[in-house]
Amino acid sequence: MERTLTPLDRILVDAQNALDTVFGSARAERPNPGLGEAEVVLEDAERRHAAGLMRINHVGEVCAQALYVGQAAVARDAATRRQLLAAAQEETDHLAWCADRLRELDSRPSRLNPLWYAGSYAIGALAGLRGDGWNLGFVVETERQVEAHLDQHLRQLPEADTRSRAILATMKADEARHADNAQAQGARVLPPPIPALMAAASKLMKTVAYRL
Ligand SMILES: [Fe+2]
Ligand SMILES: [Fe+2]
Repeated sequence: MERTLTPLDRILVDAQNALDTVFGSARAERPNPGLGEAEVVLEDAERRHAAGLMRINHVGEVCAQALYVGQAAVARDAATRRQLLAAAQEETDHLAWCADRLRELDSRPSRLNPLWYAGSYAIGALAGLRGDGWNLGFVVETERQVEAHLDQHLRQLPEADTRSRAILATMKADEARHADNAQAQGARVLPPPIPALMAAASKLMKTVAYRL
C-alpha cells in the first residue's frame, strides 16, 4: 500500500486518522480486556474519579497516535515510516478500549482532543525532522513514560473498578513491548532537556484532561 501513496494520499490518510482519533470512531482489532470482568456499580464519587483517570488515558492514546503519525509524515526512510504507522495502529486498540470504558462509566472523552492531537502531531513532526534515530528515541521515551504512568493509575483506580484495571494492565504490557521494539531497532537516547520537557507536557495534559 505504502508504495502507491502520493503525497496527497498521505495527507488524506493522516486527516482520516486525525478525525477517527479525535471523534472516537476508532475501532479495536482485539477484544476489550475489560469485558472479561464483571461490571460493578461504583459509588458516584468513585465512578467520577475512575472516569477522570480513564479520560487521561484516552487522551494519552490520542497523543500517541498523533505523535506517531506526525513522525511518520516526515520520516525519510520508508521502513521507519511503516514501523511508525504500525505502532500507531497498535495504539488504536487502546484508544477504542478507553473510549468504551468512558461510555460505561457514563462519561466522555476530553473536549480538547483536537488540541491534544494537533499539539502532539506538531511535536512528532519536529522530532521526525531530526532523523530516524530520533524518531525511535521518541517512541522509547514516550512508551516508557506511559508505562510508568499506567502503573500510577493502576494504584489510583478504585479497587472495585476491575474493568478499567484489566484494560490498563493489557495496555501496560503492550507499551513495554513497543518500547523494547523501538530500542532494538536502534533508538537514540534523547538528550536533556527533552525527556523532562515531555514529562512536563504530559503532566499538564493529565491535570487538564482529568476534568475537561
Ligand atoms: Fe497505547
Ligand atoms: Fe504504545
